[in-house]
Amino acid sequence: MEHELFTSAAAPLPLPAGVAYLAGFALAWEEALLERLARISAAAPFRHMVTPGGRMMSVAMTNCGALGWISDRRGYRYAQRDPESGKPWPALPAVIRELAIAAAGEAGYAGFEPDACLINRYTPGARMSLHQDRDEHDRAAPIVSVSLGLPAVFLFGGLTRRDRPLRLPLAHGDVVVWGGPARLAYHGVAPVADGQHPKLGPQRINLTLRRAGLPKINAR
Ligand code: SIN
Ligand code: FE2
Repeated sequence: MEHELFTSAAAPLPLPAGVAYLAGFALAWEEALLERLARISAAAPFRHMVTPGGRMMSVAMTNCGALGWISDRRGYRYAQRDPESGKPWPALPAVIRELAIAAAGEAGYAGFEPDACLINRYTPGARMSLHQDRDEHDRAAPIVSVSLGLPAVFLFGGLTRRDRPLRLPLAHGDVVVWGGPARLAYHGVAPVADGQHPKLGPQRINLTLRRAGLPKINAR
């Protein structure tokens, strides 16, 4: 186990203030994570959501936790129920919560209590364009992002869209945490390259844990 912490490509340094890159941090939780992911996606299947502008996202998504991030023609927002089934999202598994709290703590954010876990599935070619995470009511809390499966290049920019993003290589088990002065940094994911991951096959899974707070009443 121990040596695996060093198999991930090192992040370019220095990282902006408020950002931590924890190579291999989630590997200790790997087996439990994969098992919980299978259960969650059976109860709330991955689906391609539509942006408010009407474009279908290349990333397929689902959620677990009290609040789930959704997008449709009405806007981006958090919802307590899966709009596909009308049922509450699957509960946030204790192991995922513990991983997120441990990663946030390691990054210097004590007291993180996630209430939302967005699960993104990237097949080769899928990408996420630069955006800010700003649908959360609570912006004091950091964002914890766990990467599994195929590698990807995480684009981490500044507080304006024009800031040239850093390119952080993310591998299976890597965790990135950002908050404080970087909480509203622009970020995205470059198109995922073809490949086969030994545990997850031709896909990258990303868990984004957040403290969303109250769901917004008004869609943007
Ligand atoms: C996101 O910004 O929601 C996704 C980030 C990722 O997939 O690494
Ligand atoms: Fe994001």
